[in-house]
Amino acid sequence: MNPAQRVAIYPGTFDPITNGHVDIIKRAAPLFDRVIVTLAVNSEKRPLFSTEERLEMIRRSIEGIPGVDVDRFSGLVVDYAHQVGASVIIRGLRAVSDFEYEFQIALMNRKQRREIDTVFLMPDEKYTYLSSSIVHEVARNGGAIEAFVPPFVREMLAERYKVDK
Ligand code: COA
Repeated sequence: MNPAQRVAIYPGTFDPITNGHVDIIKRAAPLFDRVIVTLAVNSEKRPLFSTEERLEMIRRSIEGIPGVDVDRFSGLVVDYAHQVGASVIIRGLRAVSDFEYEFQIALMNRKQRREIDTVFLMPDEKYTYLSSSIVHEVARNGGAIEAFVPPFVREMLAERYKVDK
């Protein structure tokens, strides 16, 4: 851990990672020395993909983006940030509807550790309506998802839903 480095974490469930998440990662990368995309393994959500599958999907999605790593965490996100020497938590804001929830979490996180700030980035407007669940919904019903997820994620979704049918 180099204290002179500006490290940010980008936490989430990433079930699966979408082009909207990748867009945020690409915007964050040049702003920090290091960005750690970190998977919440104790999320309240019940993910379709295993931790290993989601980590692999993230790994492949960030290939070629300089200064970006992948990790996982459990427990509080601010404790993880502290452990890895990050001073910033990155979150994507897609629409006003995200704001209230994100505001609440950001303030709670600040109450836990004052030295860690949340930085909100806006994805390209073409991703404002995108979420992992909406991608599932379309994939499950055989719709086109190539504009929303990287190609290997599309293949994994197609495979998973074929098996489940
Ligand atoms: N493009 C596309 N979709 C996006 C997006 C973007 N740029 N940004 C967010 N989303 C979507 C996600 O796909 C996800 O969709 P889904 O609900 O359909 O799965 C949704 O927005 C939010 O997901 P995500 O950004 O992955 O966050 P999350 O809510 O799953 O994860 C944690 C939140 C894990 C970061 C948070 O719960 C956490 O930190 N937990 C640990 C415990 C803790 O410290 N809590 C905070 C103190 S109360």
